[in-house]
Amino acid sequence: MSEIGYASRKKVNLKGRDFLELQDFSAEEIWKILKTTRILKKYRGKKRINKLKGKSVAMIFEKPSTRTRVSFEVAVEELGGKALYLSRNELQLGRGETIADTARVLSRYVHLIMARVYKYETLEELARYSSIPVVNGLSDINHPLQILADLYTLWERFKKLRGLTIAWVGDGNNVCNSLLIGASKLGINVNVACPSGYEPHPKYLEWAKINASQSGSSINVFVEPAEAVNNADAIMTDVFVSMGQEEERGKKMSIFYPKYQVNTELIARAKHGVVFMHPLPAHRGEEVIDEVIDSDYSLVWDQAENRLHTSKALLYLLI
Ligand code: CP
Ligand code: NVA
Repeated sequence: MSEIGYASRKKVNLKGRDFLELQDFSAEEIWKILKTTRILKKYRGKKRINKLKGKSVAMIFEKPSTRTRVSFEVAVEELGGKALYLSRNELQLGRGETIADTARVLSRYVHLIMARVYKYETLEELARYSSIPVVNGLSDINHPLQILADLYTLWERFKKLRGLTIAWVGDGNNVCNSLLIGASKLGINVNVACPSGYEPHPKYLEWAKINASQSGSSINVFVEPAEAVNNADAIMTDVFVSMGQEEERGKKMSIFYPKYQVNTELIARAKHGVVFMHPLPAHRGEEVIDEVIDSDYSLVWDQAENRLHTSKALLYLLI
């Protein structure tokens, strides 16, 4: 049976669910989101789908954003709903109103909350006190919305996911943690290359290894980038210094740069046909060079575009 054939035979209903952590979703549920994405992408601009007519979505941001904010807002509007951008400091949250009270009040007005936060616990608290779905728009430990788009982009490119190998080169950060989960659930192998002390979160590595043993994939952590990219179908990286880590910049740059930069020498060590991926924003000249990110094997603009289609699918399914 094909990998999506299996998913399609089971009844999957995501209505009312929070989307905080990919580990809470089964392979069938993730496939449901990817398959819904494919349909919504195909019909964009051709057929009006007013699934969110009369519905509103609150988007709380504690940190800056280009892709998450714009793709989510456009996704809501294209489904006929209304999106409200709320920066933490313009809410009473910034003056000490509790997360619980904010969640209770927003639940009386809107139909879903998406939030980008510093601490994952903030999302858990929002979800605990909300009577509507809460979606994680990035936290210190994970970024599951990004990984939905990345999985979809890989599926579009390779027409399959099971058996692919992704090499993550750089910081074992929030995006890497979510990648480990999404990939291991769908039977994708992941090789992480990171400096000692910058490995992915131990809980995510543990979950990923359990998922991989069930899906038949493998999870490996290396120190040397060259070892991780050997046999990789895709090389992914991200900034060395994530939002909120600005004070560590000097230290992190001295550890990561230039060893963990994705450049043409590293690409040459991977399989013929390897693709390059990055969640963006990129720090050109640091974790990746222009020649790689602007190459014809770079999927970064498709990834960015697919943030719109995957967010639309998620909204469609959760509300
Ligand atoms: N990839 C991503 O989440 O980008 P933004 O920070 O611009 O939202
Ligand atoms: N790891 C990066 C991802 C940005 C989308 C950060 O958290 O800043």
